[in-house]
Amino acid sequence: MSHSSKPVNIASPTSFGHGRYATRGYLLLIISLTLNVLLIVAIIRPAIDINGILKQDTFFGNSGHSSTGPNMPLVENASSGRCPSSTYQQASPPATVNLWASLTIPELAEIDAWVRAPERRLNLTQNKNSALSDNVIYLIEAYYPPKKEALAFLNDPHQVPRPDRYARVTIQHGGLKIPEIKDYLVGPLPIGSATKIRRLTEIYHREDIPFNAYALTNWTSIPSFMARAVKPLIPAMEDLFGGTIRGFDNDTLIAGMSGPFSFDGSFRRLWTTWRRNTAGSYLLPVNFYNYIDISGTDPSQWKILKLMYHDQIFPTVESFLEAYNNGTLVRHPEQKAPDLDFSWTQRKRVGQDRDLDELPGPRSVSFSGLRYRIDREQQYVSWLGWGMYLGFDRDMGLNLWDIRFRGQRIIYQLQPQEAIAQYGGNDPLQTSTAWLDRHFGMGTMVRDMIPHYDCPQESVYLPAITFTPQGNVQVQRAICIFEQDTGRPLSRHTGFLEGEFGAVKSYVLTIRTVTTVGKYFDYSFYLDGTIEVRLSASGYMQGGYYTSKIQEGYGGRIRHTSMGNLHDHVINYKVDFDIAGTENSLLKTTTKQEEVTHPWLDDDWGKQAIQQRINKEYIANEDDALLKYPTNFQGGYAIVNQDVRNTWGLPKGYAIHPGYSPIHNTVVGSKRLLNNANWARYNLAVSLRKETEPSSSSMWNLHLPGAPMVDFHKFFNGENITQQDLVAWINLGMHHLPQAEDSPNTKTNLATSSFLLTPLNYFDADVSMEMKNAILLHPPKAPGGSYTFDDYGVKQDVTCLPDAPAPFEYTPTKWLGLSGEPDVISPEDARRVSEMYLRVRIGA
Ligand SMILES: *[C@@H]1O[C@H](CO)[C@@H](O)[C@H](O)[C@H]1NC(C)=O
Ligand SMILES: *[C@@H]1O[C@H](CO)[C@@H](O)[C@H](O)[C@H]1NC(C)=O
Ligand SMILES: *[C@@H]1O[C@H](CO)[C@@H](O)[C@H](O)[C@H]1NC(C)=O
Ligand SMILES: *[C@@H]1O[C@H](CO)[C@@H](O)[C@H](O)[C@H]1NC(C)=O
Ligand SMILES: *[C@@H]1O[C@H](CO)[C@@H](O)[C@H](O)[C@H]1NC(C)=O
Ligand SMILES: *[C@@H]1O[C@H](CO)[C@@H](O)[C@H](O)[C@H]1NC(C)=O
Repeated sequence: MSHSSKPVNIASPTSFGHGRYATRGYLLLIISLTLNVLLIVAIIRPAIDINGILKQDTFFGNSGHSSTGPNMPLVENASSGRCPSSTYQQASPPATVNLWASLTIPELAEIDAWVRAPERRLNLTQNKNSALSDNVIYLIEAYYPPKKEALAFLNDPHQVPRPDRYARVTIQHGGLKIPEIKDYLVGPLPIGSATKIRRLTEIYHREDIPFNAYALTNWTSIPSFMARAVKPLIPAMEDLFGGTIRGFDNDTLIAGMSGPFSFDGSFRRLWTTWRRNTAGSYLLPVNFYNYIDISGTDPSQWKILKLMYHDQIFPTVESFLEAYNNGTLVRHPEQKAPDLDFSWTQRKRVGQDRDLDELPGPRSVSFSGLRYRIDREQQYVSWLGWGMYLGFDRDMGLNLWDIRFRGQRIIYQLQPQEAIAQYGGNDPLQTSTAWLDRHFGMGTMVRDMIPHYDCPQESVYLPAITFTPQGNVQVQRAICIFEQDTGRPLSRHTGFLEGEFGAVKSYVLTIRTVTTVGKYFDYSFYLDGTIEVRLSASGYMQGGYYTSKIQEGYGGRIRHTSMGNLHDHVINYKVDFDIAGTENSLLKTTTKQEEVTHPWLDDDWGKQAIQQRINKEYIANEDDALLKYPTNFQGGYAIVNQDVRNTWGLPKGYAIHPGYSPIHNTVVGSKRLLNNANWARYNLAVSLRKETEPSSSSMWNLHLPGAPMVDFHKFFNGENITQQDLVAWINLGMHHLPQAEDSPNTKTNLATSSFLLTPLNYFDADVSMEMKNAILLHPPKAPGGSYTFDDYGVKQDVTCLPDAPAPFEYTPTKWLGLSGEPDVISPEDARRVSEMYLRVRIGA
C-alpha cells in the first residue's frame, strides 16, 4: 500500500483513531464510501490517476472538518475482501453545541442539590419511599432556549454566545396545606451566583396545577390501597373467578385502570377492571369493575365507591357481598371453568410451518460502509445533504431540531406533542377511557430496543437518559438510525432518445424510537427533500369482556369472552417550519370542477368542456387555520415564504401531505376529552409561533379535560399569520375497529399512520437528479446493438465480506442513582414503574 501516491489537502487531520491512519487513511476511507473496494485496490496502485475523481469537491462531503471519529481500517483489508468498517463516521454539526441536548447526570445532580438546599425553602423530601404527602421533585429536564437566541447563535456560532441554559423543575408539593404541583424555571446553568429559581406559568392556561392531576411518584400507594380495599372481597372474587388475589407473586387476578382520573382536579377517581394475571392480561377481563376514589394525599381516605359484576351494580362493597351471600347475585360460572385456556394471549409461536421459513430472511448491508455521519456527543446526524440535532425529553421522547437540507434550514423543531386513545364500549372502563399518553412520559417509557427486530441489524443506536423520581433511567438503545434502499427508484423513465432513459435510486434515512406503549416513532428522510413522519403501533389492545347482547357495535370479538374495543388514536406533532427564513404564510390549495366555453372548442364535442382547476389562497388569520383535509383530498396545505421565490417566480414552500390513515378524532364533546386535546378535532392547525405556546399539551392534561393546563383552542386568538413565524400542528392516527387478527397483538402494517412534508416549488426542479446512485441508459446506436450506460462511477455490484453482526443480546433499561451510581431496582418494582395503572398487582 502506498501512502505517498496522491496529493491530499484535507484540513486539520487530528487524531483519527490510530495515528498512522491519520490523513491518508481518512482520504481513502472517504473514497471507499463512494466507490467500491475493488476500485480502491486499483487506485492505491500509483499507475491509476484519481485526480479526476478527487477534484470534485462534493466527493468529500463535509470531510474538510477535523475528525475524531471512529477508526476505519479499510485499506489494509481491502484486498482480503473484507468490507469497510461498519461503524459510522464523525459528523460536523453546524455548531458544536446541541442547544436542545438533555441535561447530563452531573447537571441533574447539581440542580437537584441546589433546589433541595435549605435556602430555597422548598422543604423537599428525598424521592425514594416518599409519601404523597411529601414535597418531591418530580422532574428535572432541559428547558429549550428562546428561538430568537438559538437562531442568532446558530447563524454565527463563533461570534454569538450560546443562549443561557435553563432547566425546568417540577415539584409535587404534597406537603402543603393545600397540596399543589408547581413548575419552576432554574437557571442560568451551570449553577452559579446568577442562578435563580422562578415559577414557570407563562406556558400554561391556568396558574395552578391541581394536585389530583399528579403523575406517579409512589408506585406502591395504589397496590397497597387495593390490597386493603379488596380484602373483604377476596373470598367472593376467588369463588366467582376461580382465581387468587392474595398479594403474592402467584396471584391470578390483577387490576387495570381507566383514565382520566379527574375532570378539573377536584377529585381523583377511576374505574378498575379485574383481569387474569397471565401473559396478555390486557385481553382477559373478568367483567368485574370497581370505581375507586384516590383523591388527595392521604391513602387512608381512599375507598371503593361502586362495584359492577356482569351488569349488576352495587353502591357498596357490603351490598355486593350481601347479594353474593344471599343468593341474589346472578352468577356467571363460565368464568371459573377449570379448563379456561389463556394460552392464546401469549406471543409464543403457534401454528403450522411455512415453506422455507426455517431460513433467516434477507437483511440489508452497506457494503461500502455507512453513509451517514453521527456526532454522538452532540447527538447530531447528517446524511446525503440532510442534517439535524436530536433531543430527548420525558414527556414525548425523541425530537428533532434545526433540520437542514442542502444547507438550508427547513424545520426548526419537529416534536411529537401528545397521543390520545379514546375508547367506546359498554362497560365502565371502556366508556370512561380517554388516554393522553404524555402523562405517563413517553420518553421515560422508551425501552431498550430489541436489536435486529425493532430496527435493522446494522442500525446505529443512541442512548437516552431521563430523570424520574425513582432515579435516572438510562436506555442504551433508545434511538436507532439506519439507511435503507426503498426497493423502488425515486424516479425513472423508459425512453428511446439519448438522455431520457434512466433511474435514480431511492434511499431513506430513518431515525426511530419505540416507547413501551408500543408506538414506533419514525422520521424518514428522502433524497428529494421529503420528510416522512410515521407512527406505527403494536402490542396488546385494551380488551373488553365480550357478551353478544350488549357489546354489539363497540368492537370486535377475539375469543369466547374477549373483545377489542373500538377506539381512535390521534397523535399530534409540532412542526416549526422555517421556509427560507422565519417569515412564512399558510397556503391553501383546492381543486374544483368547472365548466368552460371556448371559441376554439370544436363543434364535434360542443362548445363546453368540463374539467378541473386549481385555486390558491392564503389563510391570513389564525382562527381560520384549524383545518381538515378537503373532501377527496382535492387540494391541501403548505407553508410558504411569499417573499422568497424560486427561479420561476413561485413562493418557496413545503407542502403537508396526508400519508397513511390521516384521520382526526371521531368523538367531539365527550366530557373525558372536553378541552384537553382540542387539536385532535382537526387534521392540522397552523398558529403564530410563540415562546408561551411551546406545546399543544402538557403532562397534566390527561386528568384535566374540563380545565386543562394547555387548551389548544386558546392558541387561536385572531392573530395575523401572513409572513410570520408559523407552527404547523399536524395529526396522524387511526380508527381502530378491532378484529380477530388483532389477537394476540395489533400489527404495525395496519396500525400505522403518516404525513409527508415535501418541497413545494422550494427548488427549481427535482434536486434528486444530482444523485450519483443513478443510472442513465444510452440507446443502441445501431439496430440490434446493446445498451450502454453511465453509472456515474458508483458501482452497484460491490461485494465484500461484512463484519459479522453482533450476537443477539438484550440490554435492559438501567436505573441509576441521582449521581449516576448504579441503582438496584427489583424486577417487580421495575414492572410497577413501567406498567403503572395498566397492570396493578395488589399489595406493596
Ligand atoms: C482484517 O481482516 C482480518 C480477518 O480477515 C481481521 O482479523 C483483521 O482484524 C482485519 N484488520 C483490520 C485492521 O480491520
Ligand atoms: C409510598 O408511600 C408510603 C407511605 O405512604 C411509603 O411507606 C412507601 O415507601 C412509598 N413507596 C415508594 C415506592 O416510594
Ligand atoms: C415539610 O414537609 C413535610 C412533609 O414532607 C410536612 O409534614 C412538614 O409540615 C413540612 N414542614 C413545613 C415547615 O412546612
Ligand atoms: C402462592 O405463593 C404463596 C406465597 O409465596 C404460597 O404460600 C402459595 O402456596 C402459592 N400458591 C400456589 C398455588 O402456588
Ligand atoms: C340480597 O342482597 C341485596 C343486596 O344488598 C338486596 O338488595 C336484596 O334485597 C337481598 N335479598 C334477599 C332475599 O335478602
Ligand atoms: C397581515 O400581515 C400582513 C403582513 O404583515 C399585512 O400585509 C396584512 O395587511 C395584515 N392583514 C391584516 C388583516 O392586518
